[in-house]
Amino acid sequence: MPAHGKGAHMSLKPVLDQIDSDLDAAMERLFDLLRIPSISTDPAFKGDVDRAADWLVSDLDSIGITATKRPTTGHPMVVGHVEGNGPHVLFYGHYDVQPVDPLELWDRDPFDPAIEETPKGRVIRARGASDDKGQLMTFVEACRAWKAVHGEMPCRITFFFEGEEESGSPSLIPFLKENADELKADIALICDTGLFESRAPAIMTQLRGLLGEEIVLTGPSKDLHSGMYGGAAMNPIRVMSRVLANLHDDTGRIQVPHFYDGVPDLPPEIKAQWDGLGFDYAGFLGDVGLSKPAGEQDHTALEMIWSRPTAEINGIKGGYTGDGFKTVLPSKVSAKVSFRLVGQQDPHALREHFREWVKTQLPEDVTAEFHAHGASPASQMSTDHPAFEQTRAVLGEEWGEEAAFTGCGGSIPVAGYFKTYLGLDTMLVGWGKDDDQIHSPNEKYDVESFHKGIRSWARILDAIR
Ligand code: BES
Ligand code: ZN
Repeated sequence: MPAHGKGAHMSLKPVLDQIDSDLDAAMERLFDLLRIPSISTDPAFKGDVDRAADWLVSDLDSIGITATKRPTTGHPMVVGHVEGNGPHVLFYGHYDVQPVDPLELWDRDPFDPAIEETPKGRVIRARGASDDKGQLMTFVEACRAWKAVHGEMPCRITFFFEGEEESGSPSLIPFLKENADELKADIALICDTGLFESRAPAIMTQLRGLLGEEIVLTGPSKDLHSGMYGGAAMNPIRVMSRVLANLHDDTGRIQVPHFYDGVPDLPPEIKAQWDGLGFDYAGFLGDVGLSKPAGEQDHTALEMIWSRPTAEINGIKGGYTGDGFKTVLPSKVSAKVSFRLVGQQDPHALREHFREWVKTQLPEDVTAEFHAHGASPASQMSTDHPAFEQTRAVLGEEWGEEAAFTGCGGSIPVAGYFKTYLGLDTMLVGWGKDDDQIHSPNEKYDVESFHKGIRSWARILDAIR
């Protein structure tokens, strides 16, 4: 028997069988975690976030993994270790969830999970089912099955669960710096992404960065009657509307000076690879009631979401928005704007350029205040580690379709931080589907995603050990 690596005594097949026979129990465990409303952004749920961390500690403990809840100045981290032969992997997932509002758009209590039959199959309905508790538990359940069958883990694993991902990870960088030695491994694995077109396994090799800015414009010192003052007094909503309308030109190009500094052209070989994926352009927008890509018109929709930067207005607040009508001329208006970043775009430099650009558009008597909401650069994964090819080679068997290396429109800043602070490459794989409604009402995770996701992790662990 080899000193390390694949011993013939640890085969995959009985692990997959164990996963199949334990699926109902695995779902019960996930339901327990989903019942804890671990909303990290809302201080009212601080105790619940803490309880979710405790739950994970004891769940890891139940499969022989020594784990601890680690306090931070925000929500706790959970770190667990288990010995094993072969490569040392660091697995990351987040156990916090997004707020549930608007609650009235949910068809059930977001923290009372249930299995629902839908025309597309059985789904687990709850906040966090897909992002990211269900995904996190696919890895844990694969480890549980492996341990149950073989009495040990397929390789050495460090588990690292965060409770602040959905609120900008304020404690993450200090925690990585302070615990770098403990967290170092050969490669990081993150399960917080989705399948390609809800169907084919995807290893995401690039993530967009994210910059968040809130602008508050103030005109008159108080709300005014729009008949008494309208015409003479400058309305800050009028100014905000113009500023926001100026973000893009008619071709979808973003107008903030220096915005495109550091945006690379898509390398022809990547473009060719993406073109070869057979992306269903009509279906992608058609599924959400749209037909025409709204970004930079000289790029494909796939490029718009994977390799091009964006400016999006996420929310506007100001004036009278209640029922009925009120002729008010408001004192203040605010807007939240986020930018998805690619390549070498520098979020901190961009924040300054954006603020300058807004200020140059303000007429007399209107002043601006800005609030910063997160700034993380894009990251490009190196796929040199053998785990990438080993993983790609085995996922096809589970999903009936070859795995692809793809881009990703979302942002997972921790992947870049693993590189910067731990020197670790990250492999991003996940089983979410485009219609999981993450961050939205009626979030769900397909039972298929959960079941095949667990089986996929068993296959990956088997392939890389
Ligand atoms: N799981 C998502 C990232 C994601 C979204 C991956 C869609 C693949 C497809 C993650 O939890 C998330 O929502 N990230 C935020 C950024 C974070 C810094 C708040 C995002 O992308 O908006
Ligand atoms: Zn997530």
